[in-house]
Amino acid sequence: MKNLVILVSGSGTNLQRIIDAIDNGEIRNAKVSLVIADRECYGLERAKNHNIENILIPRGKNFSDELAKQIPQNTDLIVLAGFLSILKPAFCEKWSGKIINIHPALLPKFGGKGMWGHHVHNAVIEAKEKESGATVHFVTSGIDEGEIILQKSFDITEDDTPETVAEKVHLIEYEIFPIAINKVLNNVTI
Ligand code: GAR
Repeated sequence: MKNLVILVSGSGTNLQRIIDAIDNGEIRNAKVSLVIADRECYGLERAKNHNIENILIPRGKNFSDELAKQIPQNTDLIVLAGFLSILKPAFCEKWSGKIINIHPALLPKFGGKGMWGHHVHNAVIEAKEKESGATVHFVTSGIDEGEIILQKSFDITEDDTPETVAEKVHLIEYEIFPIAINKVLNNVTI
């Protein structure tokens, strides 16, 4: 059984999707062994509701050092699921190849510092992009720069707003995240 540690900062709908995908067999041979949040958020409540071990490490300059102490050595994959703190390079290097992130756009476009959540969708609409989507990628010390594992796009229509784009991106995330996790953990594509 592979051990997943999930990092969250927000409502945790992607965390919920991962929990459900493990329950229904879409993600095989895995368990969420720990959820870590960098602030009070509903993602933490979801962990509690499922009796998953959970820790709050307040965000700030010591976050990565504290995180390093809390991640069990037998962790197979660290999954950033709507996680908003930037991890220190030393942490990314130590867990190289074992940290993945979901990003709400088609990287390498609309990534980097400050590009998270609604900021991404505002920028996409502002730039009059013809498409957006979601990307699952490995985490390296370069923000949103690690190797892409899986990406899926959709067409933006004239009626789309940052809010409707956000909803469409979320649906794509729920589709590709379990597939990407299964691929990295078990080297299989469902
Ligand atoms: C997701 O859309 C995720 O891609 C984004 O935050 C949202 C979290 O939703 N992550 C980032 O912007 C990270 N740069 P959730 O809490 O409902 O899973």
